[in-house]
Amino acid sequence: MTCRRIPSEGPARGALSRVVSAARRQLPPGHSPRPATAARVTPVTSPLPLASGRTADVFAVDDNRVLRRYRDGGDVAAEAAVMIYVGGRGFPVPRVFSASGPDIVMERLDGPTMLDALLAGDLDIPAAAEMLADLLARLHELPARLARDPAVRVLHLDLHPGNILLSSRGPVVIDWPNAVEGPPDLDIALSALILAEVAVSDRPEVASAARMLLTEFLARADGDLLRGLERAVAIRRANPTLSAEEIDRLAVAAALIGDVIAAGSTA
Ligand SMILES: Nc1ncnc2c1ncn2[C@@H]1O[C@H](COP(=O)(O)OP(=O)(O)OP(=O)(O)O)[C@@H](O)[C@H]1O
Ligand SMILES: [Mg+2]
Repeated sequence: MTCRRIPSEGPARGALSRVVSAARRQLPPGHSPRPATAARVTPVTSPLPLASGRTADVFAVDDNRVLRRYRDGGDVAAEAAVMIYVGGRGFPVPRVFSASGPDIVMERLDGPTMLDALLAGDLDIPAAAEMLADLLARLHELPARLARDPAVRVLHLDLHPGNILLSSRGPVVIDWPNAVEGPPDLDIALSALILAEVAVSDRPEVASAARMLLTEFLARADGDLLRGLERAVAIRRANPTLSAEEIDRLAVAAALIGDVIAAGSTA
């Protein structure tokens, strides 16, 4: 595995070599001074993760940086490139310091996820819906990184309250492995579908709040998300982190979106 340097702007340049140098200083006596991979030697303050998602663990590197590591390997180059691109154009993402194999070292953000803030009652549902719709709209204002077609934009394809950190510098979007370029309606449909999945789930403690959030989000989201819905369902169906029960409920979730839109248009 090679250690890949991310082509990045300003202070990010050189960060990888600082990370590797710091790691070498921490190696025990007799250990090879030439680490096989940066991934293995990125120094973390504790072997226990700060947080774990379904695919990755997040470790503290220091007060300003975290290491996000995929548990099953992989290559973060593509998602790091998208993060650097949108971040360089003013979209709120964690700054990327380095990327290598399954590891990204990035800006450590303070603050809870939007999901945790909602569950704690620290953020109300209309405010969360506004923030979610606004983040999608801002992302879709940016020109695509690769495509020439002006209708094609950068899509996150997993933008939901668990992937928004409410930091002291404002809401910041994390977790970019699904990012692609395509029609913005698809991204909006994906966000709506994820909310609808929770609304039709067998978790009564969150289902009704998710339905309210979906309703408020649909009232604010720009675009014709019904155009993207079929493809959004297909993308979710192919997502390996969904259980068989969750996949079975996708059609009901999609139908709920249609119902909420219809109810909104007759209200
Ligand atoms: N830059 C960061 N600074 C501080 N905490 C972070 C950062 N990035 C991620 N985290 C924490 O790690 C958690 C998991 O991150 P992330 O969503 O990227 O992982 P994941 O495995 O892809 O998650 P999932 O698939 O469950 O959405 C986040 O909910 C958050 O608590
Ligand atoms: Mg996540």
